[in-house]
Amino acid sequence: METGSDIAEIVGAHADCEGPLLPILHDVQARFGWVSEASIAQIAAALNLSRAEVSGVVSFYHDFRRTPDPRPVIRLCRAESCQARGSEPLAAAAATLAGERIRIEAVYCLGLCSAGPAAMIGGDVHARLDSERIAALMAVL
Ligand code: FES
Repeated sequence: METGSDIAEIVGAHADCEGPLLPILHDVQARFGWVSEASIAQIAAALNLSRAEVSGVVSFYHDFRRTPDPRPVIRLCRAESCQARGSEPLAAAAATLAGERIRIEAVYCLGLCSAGPAAMIGGDVHARLDSERIAALMAVL
């Protein structure tokens, strides 16, 4: 759980940035896995924005979560090149394997278009996935 000083530290790290809201929100999301109402209020106050403005940005972008979710996440590319290489049946297989234990999110290009289907797990990208490879990756999450 984040504290006010955690959020102040993140806000302070972007004090000299022009347009700091998105970088701050990304850092909060990366560090805590979600953006709480308390964080939104603190960020809004620090940036002299309304809570509605900050909430609107958090709601607009799918990367930001409003509630905590401790499950591991697989970000599976669903863009055109990966689709042409089989990401749709792979996504269906991954969803079946994941059940409620793992969250599967769609992303649209991980920069590995010539080696798809691709996915990101944590900070690692994985290419040339098939149902066996993704099952092996999911087994260790
Ligand atoms: S289209 Fe999937 S990595 Fe680019």
